[in-house]
Amino acid sequence: MNSSAAAWSMSRHGKSSTSVALLPGFRPPRFPGSIGGRQYALVAPSKDMAVTTLDLGPYPAEEGHSDAVALDQRDPLSEFADRFAPVEPGLIYLDGNSLGRLPKATIARVRDVVEDEWGQQLIRSWPARWWNQAAELGNRIAPLVGAGNDQVVVTDSTSVALFKLTLGAIRSRPGRRRVITDDLNFPTDNYVTAAAADLVDDCEVIMVRSEDGVHGPADAIIAALDEDTALLTLSHVAFKSGYMYDMERLTAAAHDVGAIVLWDLSHSVGAIPIQLAASGADLAVGCTYKYLNGGPGSPAFLYVNPSSSVENPLQGWWGHAEPFAFDLEYRSAASIRRFQTGTMPILSLAAVETGVGLSREAGVDRLRTKSMALSEFFIDRSADRLHPLGFELASPRSSQLRGSHVSLRHPDAWRVAQSMIEDGKLIPDFRAPNNIRFGLAPLYTSFVDVHTAIGRIERIVTSGIHESYPGARSSVT
Ligand SMILES: Cc1ncc(COP(=O)(O)O)c(C=O)c1O
Repeated sequence: MNSSAAAWSMSRHGKSSTSVALLPGFRPPRFPGSIGGRQYALVAPSKDMAVTTLDLGPYPAEEGHSDAVALDQRDPLSEFADRFAPVEPGLIYLDGNSLGRLPKATIARVRDVVEDEWGQQLIRSWPARWWNQAAELGNRIAPLVGAGNDQVVVTDSTSVALFKLTLGAIRSRPGRRRVITDDLNFPTDNYVTAAAADLVDDCEVIMVRSEDGVHGPADAIIAALDEDTALLTLSHVAFKSGYMYDMERLTAAAHDVGAIVLWDLSHSVGAIPIQLAASGADLAVGCTYKYLNGGPGSPAFLYVNPSSSVENPLQGWWGHAEPFAFDLEYRSAASIRRFQTGTMPILSLAAVETGVGLSREAGVDRLRTKSMALSEFFIDRSADRLHPLGFELASPRSSQLRGSHVSLRHPDAWRVAQSMIEDGKLIPDFRAPNNIRFGLAPLYTSFVDVHTAIGRIERIVTSGIHESYPGARSSVT
């Protein structure tokens, strides 16, 4: 189909089955809309004309396409896309900041764990392999976050790991009654922080507000820190806007008043070089199912600085110094394993292992370089082609202040996002009230993907096809 034409069917949601084709140079109709006064052609369906989907590009005739191709040709990470299981033809996946794609190697590895390690070896696999796996995997994640051996362990969900470290941190600063966070933090972080603070007498949580909902209130946080602060807890990269804090600066400011710092790395690990040890950070958690491609519900990791006196408040047999002594009393392990609590999800660990392997192979510096280039490309193209259509940037403009996803706001964001998925074969995600997030995962997103995605979004909004979707939001977005 001609690249400057868009066509679609009106048959969605039980409406008429009339097809509409737009001719080059004609402005598309609002959908469903009146015909009068608008430059478009409404035609009855015919064998030749009936096109049931939006034109999906890749729009080689458009300005910018050759730039995208050239950038892909020069991309040293381009071969990594082929290391992931293929998705349906034409689908563009820009949600790797929520759930990473499936590495091909994971399929074989998980099959092996199921068929051999579990199916054949049965319980013999615990001593042979499984018992140490989460700690070994922690050591493999460590270089991705600037940590050393025996400083990182895989355990629990991010929420539970956060809870352990938050409560442990507050308790390690007796007499201090304040925990400081911001309103850009992921909701689970805020809920967990409130729950942990509730368990400590007189402890209050101070939530510092961002002025624009995009940039972290770094100066206001520093001003709020005082001798009564036990803990500063922040997301390194904010889940909605992608704003990235200066880890070193905030950590130093907290240390100046004797407070502990806990970083949530969920949106930065695997996309951004992180220097936990060099920045002096005390504690960190992160998830493994976003840029580390560990699969849905894969366990989190946590980091504890070796100089920290924080202890695990959720003691369980996996954190015991001698778990197989089956003592009546708890004695904490000396190593990072003391932060584990109970039996690990072994099938998921196998998937995390292969996911982490890909990030290590690519290298964090190359991942960051590509992520910044992809984001700049996306932001430039969206400024040219999407801002005139009502979109605005809801992420920091500077790469130095941004992680690997970019948010755009649109007044009709929910319906536009649904149309992207249904009509555009383009998967971003929606974050209330009016944000659409685009995850630019450097391992498998290409510049042509970005170019094509912008073309599809433009066609959706200029056509008005999104207006046929219900405004009421579904419960999972
Ligand atoms: C910053 C951040 N922390 C935590 C979580 C989720 O925590 P959990 O793995 O416990 O669901 C998310 C989920 O997207 C997140 O973005």
